[in-house]
Amino acid sequence: MLTTLQILILLIVSTLATSNVKPNFVIFLADDLGIGDIGCFGNDTIHTPAIDSLAKEGAKLTHNLVAAPTCSPSRAALLTGRYPIRSGMASALQQGVVSMITSTDCKAGLPRNETTFAELLKAAGYATAIIGKWHLGTNLDSSSDHYFYPVNQGFDYFYGMPTTLINECGPDGRYIAWFIQKRLIMGCCLWSLAYAVVLVVLHVLGVLGRRGVIIIGFHIVLWLGWNYASHTLLFRQFMCVLVKNHDVIEQPVVLDTISTRMVNQANSFIERSATQGPFLLYFPFLQTHTALFNMKNFTGSSKHGKYGDNVEEMDWMVGKVLSKLSELGLVESTFIYFTSDHGGALKEVSVLPPRVGEREGGWNGIYKGGKGQNWEGGIRVPTVVRYPPMIPGGIEISVPTSTMDVFPTIASLAGVDLPSDRVIDGRDLAPLLRGTTTALPHDYLFHYCGQWLNAVTFTSQKDNAIYKLHYVTPNIPAGETDCNITMYCPCTGDETTRHDPPLVFDLRRDPAEQRPLPATNDQIRNIISRVDEAISQHRRSIVPVAHQITKETLAGSFWRQPCCNFPFCWCQEDEST
Ligand SMILES: *[C@@H]1O[C@H](CO)[C@@H](O)[C@H](O)[C@H]1NC(C)=O
Ligand SMILES: *[C@@H]1O[C@H](CO)[C@@H](O)[C@H](O)[C@H]1NC(C)=O
Repeated sequence: MLTTLQILILLIVSTLATSNVKPNFVIFLADDLGIGDIGCFGNDTIHTPAIDSLAKEGAKLTHNLVAAPTCSPSRAALLTGRYPIRSGMASALQQGVVSMITSTDCKAGLPRNETTFAELLKAAGYATAIIGKWHLGTNLDSSSDHYFYPVNQGFDYFYGMPTTLINECGPDGRYIAWFIQKRLIMGCCLWSLAYAVVLVVLHVLGVLGRRGVIIIGFHIVLWLGWNYASHTLLFRQFMCVLVKNHDVIEQPVVLDTISTRMVNQANSFIERSATQGPFLLYFPFLQTHTALFNMKNFTGSSKHGKYGDNVEEMDWMVGKVLSKLSELGLVESTFIYFTSDHGGALKEVSVLPPRVGEREGGWNGIYKGGKGQNWEGGIRVPTVVRYPPMIPGGIEISVPTSTMDVFPTIASLAGVDLPSDRVIDGRDLAPLLRGTTTALPHDYLFHYCGQWLNAVTFTSQKDNAIYKLHYVTPNIPAGETDCNITMYCPCTGDETTRHDPPLVFDLRRDPAEQRPLPATNDQIRNIISRVDEAISQHRRSIVPVAHQITKETLAGSFWRQPCCNFPFCWCQEDEST
């Protein structure tokens, strides 16, 4: 029998031991992965043993929401714990992401005065690294100032792509080029014919001599050729680069070996940090965005084509990192969070033979809509968290949570203070994960489409109900699942419908958002007025800031391109360095 004194000493020692040790953090982020793609979320044909093991040994968050249904704003919110509208990352443009149509080099990015979780931890003595896709900006004033690079946002080490993966980067992914090519070929013929006719007419009329016809004709051919080349050949070269800290180390990136290289990078970061102190690894995968790629032995390994192979390869990567952690004895001391930046993209369907029509986007399970929309399919993401000292294995958290919660949760576990000069919208999930509270982290979650607040999730603890209110929804043709006009659904304007009163869904009974509740009912009217009040209060808390993603900031210059070895701009990573 232990004496009271002995117990007391034991207690003190164990609290000291746990409170002194700062946990490590590994944050995995998938790109465009749907909530229906993962085994532990009900998929019985895609194999994701590593992610499933995290759920088994930790918690599964079944109602975890992102702060925006598109990449850049969603990532900004994850890293800062704030709604993108607060950091200027919520855009007034239809395409609300840091994009690069003529250049990787646009002037949009996560403002440097925002505090990322990496900055928070770096200041607390952590080693920090990002391996994977950044997509929160590149340069500001020159093609090499790297103003927005992760190395300037709290990460000691960066290995990955500063932009997003696009179809062009893939082995057979000439998608954008394919469309432009089709247009250009059409355009080429029609325009060339029209120009030829005009030139002949001018010649016949005596306005233009033979020399004039030749000179003008030559320039037209040159111009068309340049258009073609810049859109097909150069796309891949300049949009698909692999970077280490500041340097372009591969151009274009070789995708069929990238998974192994990223895993090796992640694991060697863990190895070299583990002996020195706590670390943060942010691992935003290139998967499962198109271009879908695979290493050789994963090709054809799944039952779901290239997409399934891509998901399974990503799961393999998670597994490799988990093995390294257990090999180093870091399972107990490492907090792991896996999620996706938003729902699966419904428009991703192969247009290239022989796979024409094959789905290349994520599966959002029973949920309506997908990427770019605020229906559950766009914002509810598959999320698992493991941290053995805190989370009992196999639990399920079904109250609404947000990826913005990562920031304050990290701060609380690492014992660092939150920035006090700004609003943090995320909430510390520790009490919920420990099972010591039933209090909700969020009564309200606001769903923005670009800069427009179009929907709200309201959790009423009293009624034990979760309501979702839609004020504006994009118009979707009958029988379709996505807007057919553009890549992203519009957020406002003619192609949307304004609902007054809003559409109200009871998500506990109707998670697929099929049957709006009658707004004539007193109880529903009461809910609407509470949410309206919450919206006004939320709006009052927003300090206007400069928009980051605008036509002006996105208009990159074609001449500002990354280049590893001028003038060739063509190289492969030397893995021996
Ligand atoms: C599993 O995922 C695949 C690929 O996204 C999808 O086609 C399939 O319907 C999913 N299965 C289930 C049971 O959700
Ligand atoms: C592919 O190869 C790697 C080793 O390079 C191995 O760890 C993995 O299990 C293999 N995957 C499949 C599906 O064969």
